Amino acid sequence: MPSPIPFLDLYASNRPVETAFFRELRKLYRKSAFIGGSYVEAFEKSFARACGAKHCVAVSNGTAALHLSLAAAGVGAGDDVIVPAFTFPGAAGPVLQRGARVVFADVRPEDGCLDPRAVARAVTPKTKAILVTHLFGHPANLDGLRKALKGKGARRILFIEDAAQAHGGSHRGAPLGSLGDFGCFSFYPTKNLGGVGDAGAILVKSAAAAARLRRLRDHGQTQRFHPQEAGFNARMDALQALFLSLKLPRLGRDNARRASIAAGFLKALNGSGTLRALLPSADGVSAWHAFVVAVSGETRAAFLRHLDAAGIGHQIYYPRALPALKAFKAFAVTCPAAEDLARRVVALPLHPGLDAAQQARIRAALASFRPSSRIGTP
Ligand SMILES: Cc1ncc(COP(=O)(O)O)c(C=O)c1O
Repeated sequence: MPSPIPFLDLYASNRPVETAFFRELRKLYRKSAFIGGSYVEAFEKSFARACGAKHCVAVSNGTAALHLSLAAAGVGAGDDVIVPAFTFPGAAGPVLQRGARVVFADVRPEDGCLDPRAVARAVTPKTKAILVTHLFGHPANLDGLRKALKGKGARRILFIEDAAQAHGGSHRGAPLGSLGDFGCFSFYPTKNLGGVGDAGAILVKSAAAAARLRRLRDHGQTQRFHPQEAGFNARMDALQALFLSLKLPRLGRDNARRASIAAGFLKALNGSGTLRALLPSADGVSAWHAFVVAVSGETRAAFLRHLDAAGIGHQIYYPRALPALKAFKAFAVTCPAAEDLARRVVALPLHPGLDAAQQARIRAALASFRPSSRIGTP
């Protein structure tokens, strides 16, 4: 039996920058400016440029990016925020932390992103913002969402893009994260642009918004020990900025590799009546953060056994729709598409470090799965 294929292989994915990273790390160490400073500023400039954005504010992680954006948007008690019923559950936490009401909206079965029709139904006079997740790197239907919200609600609804899984993707040619009022990114190590620890960023259009976010990330102060408002400690470490700056120039290449691996998997699936891949819509380019299939019928357990027998790693992203989770029980609503996806989804290995032999084994496993498959079962 060939060696198992792990779901992720961070070492293989980061290998191209290893030598440069350790060379530069010594310089950073001697400089001893560990938080903020020139490495962070340089990364902010290059990430903003790469995303076609005016301003980038580097922060400590993706959840902080969401939290600071909600704070800067003025979201608080008495406000409603529309949140996808199927996404990384931690993304809804900051909405609760702000004291706002989470209003879940269902997603589209095709790509797992917000369904504009469900969003139109979720709007209330109190809707202040919408959290738009580009799930698995697939671009959410921003035009459809804007149309769905037009003329609805009592005020302009702020768009907070959750692009934590979507670095380098685009919607009608515009980079994801640059389209909303706030574009939030995570650089958690497993992301398309992943650090060597926690990190995140926010893209904004105005200098005033960027200045506010910079203040919020540093205890609400611009001058040391003189806070002007209640803030956070959400600064980025220089170490992360250094590593991310070395990886950023490779993002396009890495994403193209992800897309070509995904294309091979899709071909292998062709004709499968049981496995359906979640796919980006035609008007966008996916960052292919994950290759996720929905398994039809009651056959997910059989598919997982089939992958185990073939030595192929897998993950279930996400096992529950958000309204079904304890943390959000006060906001529970029925979201059939999200609930159905939670019962069916399986993510397969998809990262730039996958070699040709590993890809071929995954393709073979996809092509050979039959619901009655007994491979590897006792
Ligand atoms: C869609 C989404 N939003 C937000 C986050 C939060 O990012 P972080 O883990 O950097 O706080 C993640 C990370 O897992 C994510 O996948």
